[in-house]
Amino acid sequence: MQEKQLVGEAAAKLVENNMIVGLGSGSTIFFTLKKLGELVSNGLKMTGVATSRHTEELAKQFNIPIMSLGEVEYLDIAIDGADEIDQGFNLIKGGGGALLREKMVANSARRVVIVADSSKSTKELGGYPLPVEIVPFGWEMTTINIEKTGCSSTLRMKEMNKPYLTDNGNYILDCNYKVISNPKELELKLNMIPGVVENGLFVGVADEIITIKDNVVYVKTK
Ligand code: 5RP
Repeated sequence: MQEKQLVGEAAAKLVENNMIVGLGSGSTIFFTLKKLGELVSNGLKMTGVATSRHTEELAKQFNIPIMSLGEVEYLDIAIDGADEIDQGFNLIKGGGGALLREKMVANSARRVVIVADSSKSTKELGGYPLPVEIVPFGWEMTTINIEKTGCSSTLRMKEMNKPYLTDNGNYILDCNYKVISNPKELELKLNMIPGVVENGLFVGVADEIITIKDNVVYVKTK
């Protein structure tokens, strides 16, 4: 079994009866969703809150009951993937473009569990380009202002000459900083730039990381 499947399935086992569960996005979470679908068909009572349209479609496909974020008061747990994780549990997310909804859902959860294969761990963030969600209006100017924070950037494209659009109808700028030495400072600085909707730095959000080494799944807690 591949690493993503092992960690993804392990996270599904944390879900207990009557929990409201944030359902992250990405190829690792796919395995969490599939396992949750099996558990639901065996009698588990839970409700999911999806972080992307794609996850919502998968949840429906696996017969996982879902509600929108606006219909719940809080979430018992949110389970999501990550693109990079540093030693202090800071994350880069948004490789799949769902960072805004992922951050909103994680922010409403009492416990945030990240599932990550062995490639995601790093000493310092920045090796993976940081996704920043920006509004299409004046995106060129927003890009200039974002690059003043010390990165080079690329507008994420879907097809030739067509920008990728998030579920919220926005663009994604992938920002290469090489090293992000102060993630909290950068997270706040980026979100102060007019035109920026949200960025993929998740600082102080994750409570536990379910990861794997030499085919053995283990949990890292803060
Ligand atoms: C999507 C995300 C994903 O959690 C992240 O990209 C990890 O994806 P995968 O599990 O496919 O490696 O942040 O916006």
